[in-house]
Amino acid sequence: MGERLRETAAMDAAFHMGVYARKPVMFVSGEGMRLTDDEGREYLDFVSGIGAVNLGHSHPAVVEAVREQIGRLTHVSNLFFVEHRDELAADLVGLFGGEAKVFFCNSGAEANEGAIKLARRWGREKRGAACHEIVTAERSFHGRTLATLAATGQPSKQEAFAPLPAGFSHVPLNDIEALEAAVGPRTCAVMLEPVQGEGGVHPCDPAYLTAVRSLCDARDILLVFDEVQTGLYRCGEPFAWQVYQVRPDIMCLAKSLANGLPAGAVVAHDEVASAFKPGDHGSTFGGGPVVCAAARACLSALASEHLGEKAVATGEYLREKLRDYARTTGVVADVRGVGCMNAVEFSDPIAAQVASAALERGIVLNNIGAHILRVLPPLVCGVEEIDTLVATLHELAS
Ligand SMILES: Cc1ncc(COP(=O)(O)O)c(C=O)c1O
Repeated sequence: MGERLRETAAMDAAFHMGVYARKPVMFVSGEGMRLTDDEGREYLDFVSGIGAVNLGHSHPAVVEAVREQIGRLTHVSNLFFVEHRDELAADLVGLFGGEAKVFFCNSGAEANEGAIKLARRWGREKRGAACHEIVTAERSFHGRTLATLAATGQPSKQEAFAPLPAGFSHVPLNDIEALEAAVGPRTCAVMLEPVQGEGGVHPCDPAYLTAVRSLCDARDILLVFDEVQTGLYRCGEPFAWQVYQVRPDIMCLAKSLANGLPAGAVVAHDEVASAFKPGDHGSTFGGGPVVCAAARACLSALASEHLGEKAVATGEYLREKLRDYARTTGVVADVRGVGCMNAVEFSDPIAAQVASAALERGIVLNNIGAHILRVLPPLVCGVEEIDTLVATLHELAS
């Protein structure tokens, strides 16, 4: 550990609340898939920050859009019009398929919090105050504010903060009978990640999502997709629901919306969105001109560089190579994923050691618990980088 990193780590311990177990690396610059640390060592980022730079680091179009806008205007109140916000909302509504409205915020938790409030407001208008319950999936992750933590299906993250807001229940993923049994007249929404991310990269079965849509239609319940991690072409289409061809009533975005700047959005059908009345919700920074300029540049580059198609091809190549690795070594229990959202699950609890050793060799990975490695490369990732990753895995665990 160099002198600068040692000093930074000491300051971190002295002045920060201890909620993060940081790794002993300080990144100072990035370009595409590559990160550089304070001593000039290069790394391949197989986690995209944390799923938040689908375009890769420091994409020139996003950098230029931010530079241009921040030099003119950074912030005014949401009570005024600004540049870029309406064009971005129109782009998102267009990608969503029309007849929808957008609310801008700053993060994934905030987008989901907004969706929860909107679903409750809609339920109350439709069937009265009792209609406020939301069913989510076990192992899901929706954020760390109190309501999104209550929505999250992971008791280990919730226990220390009880009592959490009431009105949330959790069912096993991909079990339509369990969901049917859990919804009732008090249910205003079902909320799901099309591919669970933080819970270990578990994709929904296509037939399950189709059946969930039919159930919600039959019972007049909203379907909310948390696309904070799956969205923005990571799964091959602008939104993962387009891969499954199951359109939600409300969709939440964040992470890569502005390619690494804090931005979030709730997109809802007109009929649902109209449940929000003036004063029901708001944000100081949401929809600010700088992040909206960045997000417009990001959406435009994702489309013009055909990164959806690339995500599909890269994901297929990655899973094929990981399955070869699994076959030849016998240390892997499962390889799974959709597009560029993938996981390797080891038979033994070695994921944390493999991630640490990979970092020492210049590969950034993320372990989820003891068995799972999450592989979320930026969509610009090429076959050479994947070959380097798989060769490193062979060296570390075989
Ligand atoms: C699916 C999903 N929802 C919500 C969140 C929370 O997002 P944020 O950390 O921006 O609040 C995350 C973050 O990992 C996520 O993956």
